[in-house]
Amino acid sequence: MLVVLTSNHEELNREAGRIVGNAVRQNPALRLGLATGNTMIGVYHELARLHREEALDFSRVVTFNLDEYLGISPTHPHSFHHFMLENFFSHVNIDPRNVHIPDGTITGDYEKYCASFEDDILRAGGIDLQILGIGRNGHIGFNEPTSSFASRTRLKVLSKATVDDNRKFFGAGETVPRCAITMGIGTILASERVLMLVTGAAKATAVAHAIEGPITSSVTASALQLHADATAILDEEAAAQLKQKDYYRDVMEMTRLFTPSRLS
Ligand code: F6R
Repeated sequence: MLVVLTSNHEELNREAGRIVGNAVRQNPALRLGLATGNTMIGVYHELARLHREEALDFSRVVTFNLDEYLGISPTHPHSFHHFMLENFFSHVNIDPRNVHIPDGTITGDYEKYCASFEDDILRAGGIDLQILGIGRNGHIGFNEPTSSFASRTRLKVLSKATVDDNRKFFGAGETVPRCAITMGIGTILASERVLMLVTGAAKATAVAHAIEGPITSSVTASALQLHADATAILDEEAAAQLKQKDYYRDVMEMTRLFTPSRLS
């Protein structure tokens, strides 16, 4: 995994925005995998700024979101649909027909629905660039510990740690969803390129396990070690427990010299 060390959240937002922006410029019909959560807000604002000030064009970009809570309507203020509209889609010229977010309101044949979401990705030609955050328990998407590395989009029961982390977004007395529809680890690994963004001290242990620990379904982000083109962009706090930071700095320097496309 290519590890990019930044000094703070603002620098991380700029780096991630630059990489995604370049990918869109290189391929205006980019198939872009998206995540939600606090970490992403600054990155989406940076992409909106690039759209506003540097004419970054999203009109042909096709998006696939990783996940959505089950039992939550798209208009619910805590739905991931709402998050995406508020923080990104309403600020850029994305074509709503090109947006794909799992439907949290489905009932009945969940397996059929999830297979159809996978089909949509395949029909579009696969995901070129997948953006990810990481949970404190090492999850990517909502692939909780012990998720299969072969898993595809499916209904997933959320762990207590994740439900507790999500509680802050919901009002007092509101039910916090206990299940979600999420792309699987297999879906994520099938993306052409993966960009994991992590900020803050609360994620430092998960980051160290994911990047330098053994590959294990107990930390599903460690599956990214199996991906041929995975980059992790970290702020200082998130990188705090990594043991090989000097090596990552050397690699960054050499990558800039010899294979700059990996950082562009
Ligand atoms: C959400 C998602 C999750 C988050 C992760 C980090 O779409 O895929 O894996 O990326 O839970 O969330 P924040 O950024 O809120 O800490």
